[in-house]
Amino acid sequence: MKFDVQDCTLVGKYRLTPTIYDFRLKNSQLAEITKPGQFTHVLIPGKTLRRPVSVCDVEGDIIRIVFEIRGDGTRILSECEVGSVINIIAPLGNGFNIPKDKKTVFIGGGIGVPPMLYCAEQAGSNSVVINGFRDKSAVILSEDFKKTGCRLIETTDNGTYGINGFVTDPLKEIIDDIDVIFACGPTPMLKNISILAKAHNKPCFVSLEQRMACGIGACLGCAVGIKKSDGSITYKHVCKDGPVFNSEEVDW
Ligand SMILES: Cc1cc2nc3c(=O)[nH]c(=O)nc-3n(C[C@H](O)[C@H](O)[C@H](O)COP(=O)(O)OP(=O)(O)OC[C@H]3O[C@@H](n4cnc5c(N)ncnc54)[C@H](O)[C@@H]3O)c2cc1C
Ligand code: FES
Repeated sequence: MKFDVQDCTLVGKYRLTPTIYDFRLKNSQLAEITKPGQFTHVLIPGKTLRRPVSVCDVEGDIIRIVFEIRGDGTRILSECEVGSVINIIAPLGNGFNIPKDKKTVFIGGGIGVPPMLYCAEQAGSNSVVINGFRDKSAVILSEDFKKTGCRLIETTDNGTYGINGFVTDPLKEIIDDIDVIFACGPTPMLKNISILAKAHNKPCFVSLEQRMACGIGACLGCAVGIKKSDGSITYKHVCKDGPVFNSEEVDW
């Protein structure tokens, strides 16, 4: 795993919703080696433990991260102003291996949507993006996904925007026409996508979330159960061995 601990300059800060922020972090060295699906481990002013935040996109020497205020750490991060220096460990994790020659669907749920942007940009126009949100007020990054050239389908749980329902509803309609599925979002969503993928015999890769401490495989803080070929369970690190896993291997 090739990563580094480096300072970045916050060169752009945008508020996408009252609780979701879009940060542009300038660091050419890290931007150059960052792949879709990898994450940054962000040092929060005044906190000992870093917070993991996925890479949403890379544009030249800028790493873009989009995060939601969940607690103290993300709230303090949201208060950083343009020009601040933010220290990150990056790029971390294995990321998604995106095939150029396959029909791919990228599925994001809630704050799992941002990392799918960099993925979708790699895939091009014969791929599909399905993004699901709680309601209209939670919808983010629509214009960015439209620019990728992928077909964009959006859903909301209560029908206030896009298709009324869960991401699995439109997925059922297109799954037979798809070669491979990539997904990031809440665990119940990933589990349901995984069940659907298995039923239709489609390869499916999911990005898992776990609470993290070190972020580099040194503390056992982020263990997840993974099925071995003999049916027994082994434990792997979401930070070092993931966050992306073959959905068939995950012990849901
Ligand atoms: C690999 C990875 C990538 C992530 N990418 C993003 C991202 O792109 N954007 C984003 O907004 N968030 C992302 N997260 C989640 C983010 O790390 C947590 O929301 C953040 O650490 C919370 O810190 P806090 O101090 O604000 O909240 P805390 O006070 O630590 O916790 C507040 C609440 O958030 C929950 N929480 C804390 N950590 C996690 C976690 N890892 N997963 C799920 N719930 C958690 C807690 O259970 C609690 O309910 C990612 C997590 C992982 C593991
Ligand atoms: S967070 Fe320490 S091993 Fe993954």
